[in-house]
Amino acid sequence: MNTFRRIEQAPDNVTALVRVDFNVPMQDGKITDDTRLRAALPTIKALQSKRCKIVLLAHFDRPKGKVVPEMSLMPVADPLSKLLGSPVAFAGDCVSDAAKGAIDALPAGGVILLENTRFHAGEEKNDPELAKQMAALGQIYVNDAFSAAHRAHASTEGIAHILPAYAGKQMERELDHLDAALGNPKRPVLGIVGGAKVSTKLDLLQNLIGKLDKLAIGGGMANTFLYAQGVEIGGSLAEKDMADTARQIMEAAKGKCELLLPLDVVVAKEVKPHAEARMCGLDEIQPDEKILDVGERTIRYLREAMKHSHTVIWNGPLGVFEMPPFDQGTVLAAQEAAELAKSGKLIAVAGGGDTVAALNHAGVASDFSFISTAGGAFLEWMEGKALPGVEALRT
Ligand code: 3PG
Repeated sequence: MNTFRRIEQAPDNVTALVRVDFNVPMQDGKITDDTRLRAALPTIKALQSKRCKIVLLAHFDRPKGKVVPEMSLMPVADPLSKLLGSPVAFAGDCVSDAAKGAIDALPAGGVILLENTRFHAGEEKNDPELAKQMAALGQIYVNDAFSAAHRAHASTEGIAHILPAYAGKQMERELDHLDAALGNPKRPVLGIVGGAKVSTKLDLLQNLIGKLDKLAIGGGMANTFLYAQGVEIGGSLAEKDMADTARQIMEAAKGKCELLLPLDVVVAKEVKPHAEARMCGLDEIQPDEKILDVGERTIRYLREAMKHSHTVIWNGPLGVFEMPPFDQGTVLAAQEAAELAKSGKLIAVAGGGDTVAALNHAGVASDFSFISTAGGAFLEWMEGKALPGVEALRT
């Protein structure tokens, strides 16, 4: 159960320290995807309507406890102000008199963004002294950064033990939707997991087979499973030393969760866009060919599985989606999920790493029921791990 203090319960007219995740993709000082900025707006607006002063705490990149000018959050203030439709001040430190003076000068409902918390070595060490200094700048703490909640840092975890702590709107949205997808889902629930390696998703697979009704495995990871079953996979990417582990997962899934592995595949001799490719059965892969996508039969099978599910949770592409024609498996499966979600027949939730890029490529991201803004945090949550930033908020 998600039992948190929500913003509606917060007092009016106070200074709220709000942890957001503005770790956004940036090129030459310009934000190339402002999803995480947009995600913070509901919380900021809710606090503005309570006439609170809003002090935004965030990290950017990995400066490792040093001031790295290229990793300043300053370029974020202006775009945020435009999205918000009101001014956003900026202070060159997340503690100290500079921050305090700028916060004192804010009007009620005013917003200020403080400099990268990771410029202080104490942030990643969850140093209680740094948490105390940050906490001294406000009266309440709001965590709206689900995507950074897998980090037990001073601004994501430490402060929550010092000030009255609340879950922000985006944090709430993430937790509610993820709970609906995996914690407490409408069954049957189908997982679709892709990506290159079994070794990086071991915990995730083990957790999922205990929770899902069906699990489709795609991407390079599926090759390891096929290899473990004795399929000749030619020159395909696979972790052959993980074959035993793959067999153990298949064994453990028996009677609990139906595993859906590719039934046919798209192969090519070269991994490059528009390489000459062919679709074939699992017994027809030649030694010099590589599996780069799932085939048509597999897609049909997956579509049927989706039609017979009430919930789909998706992480990772099914093929090398960055290189057409090997994007087709991912695109067609994503379109089916989106179609079913749009007509209210399916709750479709996705997140983590390449997944959002793959769904954007398929042109269907907006039709999914929910897309998490989180990468690593989404994966850790799918692994069944407790996220320190979330745990610290529980009442
Ligand atoms: C993310 O972008 O996934 C979060 O902001 C966490 O960033 P980190 O992996 O550098 O801790």
